[in-house]
Amino acid sequence: MNLRTPICELLGIEVPIVLAGMGGASHPELAAAVSNGGGLGVLGAAACGPEELREWIARTRALTDKPFGVDTLLPLSVRRETFKESDAAGMTPAEKLPEYQDFAREFMEREGLETPPPRKRDGGLSGGFSKDLFEAQMEVVIEEAVPVYASGLGDPGPWMERMRANGTKVMSVVGAVRHARKVVASGVDVIVAQGHDAGGHNSPVGTMALLPQVVDAAAGIPVLGAGGITDGRGVAAALMLGASGAWIGSAFLATHEANIAEFQKKAIVDATEEGTTITRSITGKPARYIKSKWTEAWVDAGIEPLPMPYQTFVSSPVLQAANAGDRGDVAPGFAGQGIGMIQSIRPAAEVLAEIVAGAEAALGAAGEHLRGS
Ligand SMILES: Cc1cc2nc3c(=O)[nH]c(=O)nc-3n(C[C@H](O)[C@H](O)[C@H](O)COP(=O)(O)O)c2cc1C
Repeated sequence: MNLRTPICELLGIEVPIVLAGMGGASHPELAAAVSNGGGLGVLGAAACGPEELREWIARTRALTDKPFGVDTLLPLSVRRETFKESDAAGMTPAEKLPEYQDFAREFMEREGLETPPPRKRDGGLSGGFSKDLFEAQMEVVIEEAVPVYASGLGDPGPWMERMRANGTKVMSVVGAVRHARKVVASGVDVIVAQGHDAGGHNSPVGTMALLPQVVDAAAGIPVLGAGGITDGRGVAAALMLGASGAWIGSAFLATHEANIAEFQKKAIVDATEEGTTITRSITGKPARYIKSKWTEAWVDAGIEPLPMPYQTFVSSPVLQAANAGDRGDVAPGFAGQGIGMIQSIRPAAEVLAEIVAGAEAALGAAGEHLRGS
């Protein structure tokens, strides 16, 4: 019995398992390992400058001749620049920024974190998420004619025609039925329904409830389930809820190929199902992160973080310093609620093969529940 759904043909893959585009973590080595294993590796390119993205694509092509994808963010709030608007007290986020940076500096002093030297980047996240960055990334996606593009936030509608002309298959990650309807109207090929259990930016709605509702709204477009799907049982459940496959992030973080620090991989292995929290303290949008001194500092202070992209100017120095100092208590990273299932750091191919075998076993055993009826 082989795990196979119609999405395999659509994407040119062997098993309906897609590596989630996890910003920074889903590097060429990890994406290629998943593609070479028969799934679809998706690069987490959200913070890449255009030249860096071009280089990642070339590296991935050197590591695999199988299809792969590129994931970036297209949040409407940043594209329309509504985040520049003032709050009820008449202050814009830009005016509030210095006070928030003081908060971060005090936190760093308290934690003994040293300000890192500025990183040399080609207009990537060090310049902040911006309309210009998102548009420059899309130009590379189109020029490179990548096999698959995934928008992690927002609607890829304005770029659909050019991607379609290249033969690029387009996916869109959604967290609500109304967002699913919007991307259906834009003509995407695949929808990813990402629930509250997921690592990173996610939805207020749990995966179990969101997935079938997105499937119903998808007008026959295939849907991948996402959020908390960490082993084969989760994949089988997603298929039972009407999905055509799974978009999986956290399960691939504790792998040799994932581009996160060893202390972050260890934080995942050590965590339980209660180890994560939803916080705006990292990017300004609600995201699931492993509980840390930084996420707790905002809760304790009772301060609402700034909107995206300003909060990244506040959090980046802290996270960079914590990374440089191997501080898992400050910067353990984004992860989903399934991390309690992750017990060791392994090769990505092994994780993928185990997920596939687990899904086949769970689906094969499903008929048991009908005995005696
Ligand atoms: C470390 C990390 C980084 C992430 N970065 C992004 C990102 O840049 N773009 C995006 O679309 N989703 C991002 N996500 C969300 C994933 O694409 C995916 O939806 C999520 O990991 C699925 O839930 P799971 O972690 O429970 O498998 C990230 C998730 C994690 C854990």
